[in-house]
Amino acid sequence: MAPLRTSLWLAEHNQKPWAASILAEGPASADVVVVGAGITGLTTAVLLARAGKDVLVVEARSVGACASGNTTSKLSLLQATHLSKILPKHGRDTARAYVDGNREGMEWLLKYCEQHGVAVQHEDAYSYAQSDKGLASAHAEFKAAQTVGLPVTWEDDAPVPFPYRGGVRLPQQAQFDPMTLLDTLTVELLEHGGRLVENCRVRKVSSRGNGVRVQVNDELRREVEVRAGQLVLATGIPILDRGGYFARVKPQRSYCMAFKVPGSITRPMMISTDSPTRSVRYALVGDGELLIVGGAGHTVGRERSPSKALDELSSWTRLHYPGAAQTHFWSAQDYEPIDELPYVGPILPNFESIFVATGFNKWGMTNGPAAALALSTRILGGRMDWADAFASWSRHELAGLSSAVMSNLEVGFNLTKGWITPSVHLTRRSPTDDGAGVVSGPPWHLEARSRVDGIEHRVSPVCPHLGGIVNWNDADQAWECPLHGSRFAPDGTLLEGPATTDLTS
Ligand SMILES: Cc1cc2nc3c(=O)[nH]c(=O)nc-3n(C[C@H](O)[C@H](O)[C@H](O)COP(=O)(O)OP(=O)(O)OC[C@H]3O[C@@H](n4cnc5c(N)ncnc54)[C@H](O)[C@@H]3O)c2cc1C
Ligand code: FES
Repeated sequence: MAPLRTSLWLAEHNQKPWAASILAEGPASADVVVVGAGITGLTTAVLLARAGKDVLVVEARSVGACASGNTTSKLSLLQATHLSKILPKHGRDTARAYVDGNREGMEWLLKYCEQHGVAVQHEDAYSYAQSDKGLASAHAEFKAAQTVGLPVTWEDDAPVPFPYRGGVRLPQQAQFDPMTLLDTLTVELLEHGGRLVENCRVRKVSSRGNGVRVQVNDELRREVEVRAGQLVLATGIPILDRGGYFARVKPQRSYCMAFKVPGSITRPMMISTDSPTRSVRYALVGDGELLIVGGAGHTVGRERSPSKALDELSSWTRLHYPGAAQTHFWSAQDYEPIDELPYVGPILPNFESIFVATGFNKWGMTNGPAAALALSTRILGGRMDWADAFASWSRHELAGLSSAVMSNLEVGFNLTKGWITPSVHLTRRSPTDDGAGVVSGPPWHLEARSRVDGIEHRVSPVCPHLGGIVNWNDADQAWECPLHGSRFAPDGTLLEGPATTDLTS
């Protein structure tokens, strides 16, 4: 049987009709509008609603539709090679503050799960070398984790059936089903009088005096204006260009597969320090268990054929887990900050009306709740001790300058390449195979054609964000902008990213 093209969490989840329409949801105003119903937005909304704020959550698709419902959902303070990258750039105090924030986010979440009956499995986490090539970075992570006070050990062996050359172990981390958590958060939000509207996309925001006006398109594409005292953009990458966040983070897409495996399943949560990345955990389903394998990551829109890396990941799994049968396939993207630390706080320095939370670098299950704690505390007039390590504007900005220059050179290169390369095919081309897409035509009239399930779609390949030319992702069967990571369905419908409108026909 062909694997389901959905995350394990979304497949097992009963879709609940949270709210039909923004117009049916009372006055189009709120103390705080939170944009995005992932882990960051919903946790922030719950914390603010508990404190008595009138909170409205506006979600373009459905709860958990982007990263939070398509994650691997490991809850760990050992985060691949992250600490050994933060430490040399920012020093010990900031690295410790980053870990403190993640620890507080993780503890908040674990307590929440315990109080609300959300199942959590406690397992050891490893950052490990697959071969000699990965040993130096695994050792560097071991030292960095020790420096920031984590109780790690070096392990020459691990209970896994795949190549393992040595690695760092942090005992008693956790894993869970993110959709069960998001549902529970939503129920609590509504109990506190908060509101949530799905299928409602924010298009524009303007600031007026101390407040903001938020222009949204509801599920019938009607334009509605919502007034708010404050706005939180928990949208992955911020959708407003103010603050230039699209140039301070790099969108990284990666893929997951779930497998039924005969015999015993790997218990610890593993992630490799050398490439190609292998991320492994198990998940409880019904009365059984599935193995989740993740990897094949790439910058959004810049990989010629993601499906090749996926085939390789699938072969690796079948080699080391003989008899493994794939049940699910999914993918998602998260945002890598140019200076390794997340951006959480006002969109512009000292501007207390609009807030952002981004740059979690695929560790948002702890960073998301940490961001929610930092933002809600700030909105309520307080401050977390570790908040400087998460600041949206601060000294740590300087540490990312050279990466920012490099990243923007790459963006410039991809912009030019996108406009010039298709002109090699001056005549229009249709994709020959099902599941394929091609951009062709002269630069003054480019066209993106794709064929999916026998239907040919034709749209403009020009990204409505800042004019990048989209590329086809043959694994996801979607158009991806190589500049800042906006993604579109074959018919041009916007899926995610900083764009706020569809590709035109
Ligand atoms: C493949 C993969 C595996 C991962 N594994 C792990 C892991 O094991 N452990 C870990 O800690 N982290 C992991 N992460 C990272 C983690 O999943 C993310 O950091 C986290 O889910 C981000 O949550 P969020 O709420 O900030 O964003 P999201 O969950 O992406 O939510 C943003 C929401 O905003 C909505 N939105 C966007 N634009 C608009 C708009 N204009 N109007 C209204 N709504 C809008 C979107 O539809 C979306 O629902 C992984 C990430 C990926 C990609
Ligand atoms: S996402 Fe910015 S130009 Fe496409």
